[in-house]
Amino acid sequence: MTWSGKKPKVLVTRKIPEKGLELLRSRVELDLWDYDDIPIPKEELYVRAPALDGIIALLSDSMDGAFFHRAPNLKVVSNYAVGYDNVQVDEAAKRNIVVTNTPDVLTEATADLAFALILGASRRIGEAERLIRKGEWKSWGPTLLLGQDVYRASLGILGLGRIGKAVARRARGFSMKIFHTGRAREDDAETGSRWLPLEELLAASDIVSLHCPLNESTRHIINRETLNLMKPSAVLVNTGRGGLVDQDALYEALSAKRIAAAGLDVFDPEPFPANHPLLSLENVLALPHIGSASVAAREGMAVLAAQNLLAVLEGKEPPCRVAP
Ligand code: 8YV
Repeated sequence: MTWSGKKPKVLVTRKIPEKGLELLRSRVELDLWDYDDIPIPKEELYVRAPALDGIIALLSDSMDGAFFHRAPNLKVVSNYAVGYDNVQVDEAAKRNIVVTNTPDVLTEATADLAFALILGASRRIGEAERLIRKGEWKSWGPTLLLGQDVYRASLGILGLGRIGKAVARRARGFSMKIFHTGRAREDDAETGSRWLPLEELLAASDIVSLHCPLNESTRHIINRETLNLMKPSAVLVNTGRGGLVDQDALYEALSAKRIAAAGLDVFDPEPFPANHPLLSLENVLALPHIGSASVAAREGMAVLAAQNLLAVLEGKEPPCRVAP
């Protein structure tokens, strides 16, 4: 790679796996916010902004007009995530800043976790584990911790994209009947999933799993009204974004047993306060946003985020550009 003049200045806002950083070290002037679990404070981000040619950002970093305004040389926001609801893509486009993301490399890991939540919430795994650890397991009981079957259940997928399809492929191994909703309004031959309007999907599904991006049309797609359409035995699983669900309405539905259980990997806000009422419910299985947290997926994301960033700085088309 030949740079005209100095190496470009790049900020990586968190300690991503070394494989990605290695790609950057010799080619850019690297500034690393060297923490695994502390997001870079806004003031720190703003202090660095004027010098930056590129940034590898996380979902916890707001890549908005206010930041872009302070970063007049910025050419690329390489988001270390497939979701990019933390990036104002239109604001970036106005300033000719390219936005990229990391699809594919995390698809199977996230689908695995969605399935873990499907099984875990349906079969009350969290509750069962808490019971045994608390020493409250008195005896084998014919009605102890009865849950919902997953095998042959019906699965409703909101957003049959890459991750939704990967979940559907797993569901076929469980002989599940699969439904999806989405703008294409057509059945999916690959997964055997049938398209249904949202209302019908919610009424027909034993398990509802959310895989749509968070945007204005999907925010609170699961709300009081839509929760009321679900079966009393239904299980809701969210590995997408917390904002897809009205959490107050979900709390009401779960505490009144209007649906059976929820398996949640994402929240609004994140980190989610431990004293939030949702976390007081036994029928909530909660995880701290670990959908893509496998060694291979996170390394894949780091490499792809670095490749995206370097391509733009080199004047090439990046592997995964986000369309404005
Ligand atoms: C990431 C995710 O861990 O890719 C996404 O959209 O939600 C997760 O894989 C997270 O966004 C890190 O920025």
